[in-house]
Amino acid sequence: MRLPIVYYSQFGHIHRMAEAEAERARSVPGTEVVLRRVPETLPQEVLEKTGAAQFQKEFSKVPVCTPRELTEFDAIIFGTPTRFGNMCGQMRQFFDATGGIWKAGALVGKVGSVFTSSGTQHGSQESTILSVHTTLPTSA
Ligand SMILES: Cc1cc2nc3c(=O)[nH]c(=O)nc-3n(C[C@H](O)[C@H](O)[C@H](O)COP(=O)(O)O)c2cc1C
Repeated sequence: MRLPIVYYSQFGHIHRMAEAEAERARSVPGTEVVLRRVPETLPQEVLEKTGAAQFQKEFSKVPVCTPRELTEFDAIIFGTPTRFGNMCGQMRQFFDATGGIWKAGALVGKVGSVFTSSGTQHGSQESTILSVHTTLPTSA
């Protein structure tokens, strides 16, 4: 089985969770796991001012995912930090770029899953995951 972990991380927390998930998934015989980032949408100036640019250097070598690439996998795990109880804009933008494969039904039958992190305990993790779940059944 080919399994990507497709994620966005501004300050590195989701990146580390993605690495942990990949390590665990690789322990399942016959599973090929890859890490993929979704495209950044914040201006470089914002990344520099918030310190995110420094954190993102750690995982800048992780390839950026394309919507078309999603069709090559059997199952997909998405990772997004919480943004006001919702998925982050970068992930939303990525989903909104999948119109072509959605129209072709190219993701039908694939298994999807989601993980998130928040700055505070119970900081709207549930609603963030639900926001992605709302998208997955309609894209597959
Ligand atoms: C614009 C913005 C909105 C956020 N909204 C929430 C929130 O609603 N609840 C919360 O607990 N944390 C919130 N956070 C904190 C992040 O979700 C949290 O720090 C996350 O773990 C960052 O993941 P990353 O290091 O992979 O970018 C927010 C952060 C930002 C920048």
